[in-house]
Amino acid sequence: MAADKRSVFWIFVSVVCVVVVSAAVTEKLLHVPMFEVGSIWFRLTHLADDLNGNLFSRLSDISLLCATVYLASVIGGFFLLREAYRLFFVPLNRVRLQEDVGYLPDGRFSNRDLANMVQKRRMVGEIPPVYPNGWFGLIESHRLNKSEAINIGLLGLNLAVFRDDNGEAHAIDAYCPHMGANLAAGGRVVGDCLECPFHGWQFRGADGKCTKIPYTDSIPDIAKVKSWPVTELNGWIYLWHHAEGLDPTWKIPEIEEIQNGEWKFRGRSEHHINAHIEEIPENGADVYHLGQVHGPIMMAGIDLRFMYSKLWEFAKHEWTACWEALPAPNAHIGQIKLTHSIKMFGKRLPPVDLSVDGQQIGPGIVYLKFDNLLGKGAFLQSLTPEGPMMQRLVHNIYVHWKMPIIIAKFFMLGEALQVERDIMIWNNKCYEAKPLFVKSKEDTLIARHRRWYQQFYSENSPRFKFQKETLEW
Ligand code: FES
Ligand SMILES: [Fe+2]
Repeated sequence: MAADKRSVFWIFVSVVCVVVVSAAVTEKLLHVPMFEVGSIWFRLTHLADDLNGNLFSRLSDISLLCATVYLASVIGGFFLLREAYRLFFVPLNRVRLQEDVGYLPDGRFSNRDLANMVQKRRMVGEIPPVYPNGWFGLIESHRLNKSEAINIGLLGLNLAVFRDDNGEAHAIDAYCPHMGANLAAGGRVVGDCLECPFHGWQFRGADGKCTKIPYTDSIPDIAKVKSWPVTELNGWIYLWHHAEGLDPTWKIPEIEEIQNGEWKFRGRSEHHINAHIEEIPENGADVYHLGQVHGPIMMAGIDLRFMYSKLWEFAKHEWTACWEALPAPNAHIGQIKLTHSIKMFGKRLPPVDLSVDGQQIGPGIVYLKFDNLLGKGAFLQSLTPEGPMMQRLVHNIYVHWKMPIIIAKFFMLGEALQVERDIMIWNNKCYEAKPLFVKSKEDTLIARHRRWYQQFYSENSPRFKFQKETLEW
């Protein structure tokens, strides 16, 4: 919606600019009043016929040509300026839907069909519960305006998420207990409540209680919806989910530089991944895959089949990594230490060196703070199950306000492209419940990660039983 409004705004600005410049050129330079512009265009269309004839004797036509070139340059220049502005000053927004990335193209099927087929083929074996316990990113703060409500489906829930008139965010079950209307599909924010679009019942965000029924004063106690614990920090609205209904057992750490505005938002990527949720954080403890999957230079692309081309061997990414679980009371945090550099013809490029201090905070949040020659910043990763085997993975980049935006965008793009290589693995693999680990520190680390992750499942964590389906007709 916001993008549509922006497009309309830019089209409006373009039209105004063209009109203003046309008027200026015709009136001031060519001394042709505005009302004659129509005839100018008419004569212009006939200019080609005259080009064989007495072009040089028709000064007015040359003026027309100049005017046309001038106008074309103004319009072209304007669009060029707009693109330059976008490149240098507008944060990156890279969105890749489920069918966009990570499948092996097959001429006979669309990527969406392929995604479904991959899912069907994979439907075998035991997998861990599909919705772990913890804090999960609902939506980035800047994407939910004051007095706005939106419908979000995640963790098997259908939620109406809204920001009340005081700016506070709430998440309540979307279906109205009266007759089942979706509160976020046309519901209005009224004070700290969300009003159902069907018969106008109002529900308070903080506790889900119905506070008003327009046609009666008697409101039954059971007239309420479930209100979910939410918290807002580091540019995100997070939701607490626990299968046993426990209140939050840990807090999300603040990133002070984001909270105090020293680090600014410079871009985001959003990917939708066809995999079990645990596959994605497990990557953080899988140190060997870094060289294998993320070694080829980013220009080599995201298709695992082609990125080992000799063409790109002159440059590569180099990584070192380690992972460990923190002790109580921070046992829900896994600590990642990472370094990254690029070598070109055997020489390191210091401007892209990154030293990363990362934290996996529960099952759905990762903060990767980095230090670079050009400044400090952080990638914020939010991983939220949209369905049993469908994940939404969002990355944000925040950097010190002095770092040029285009540099931050380059880092964000680099991160997104590397993730897209992982997605080709995740989309096509199965969750291997009994992996064939060999005696090595690499596989031992992955095993430790699996043990650490167990804490996010509990007795009632939702499980998903695959039905063995066949692709036969
Ligand atoms: S369905 Fe919501 S008020 Fe009737
Ligand atoms: Fe990876």
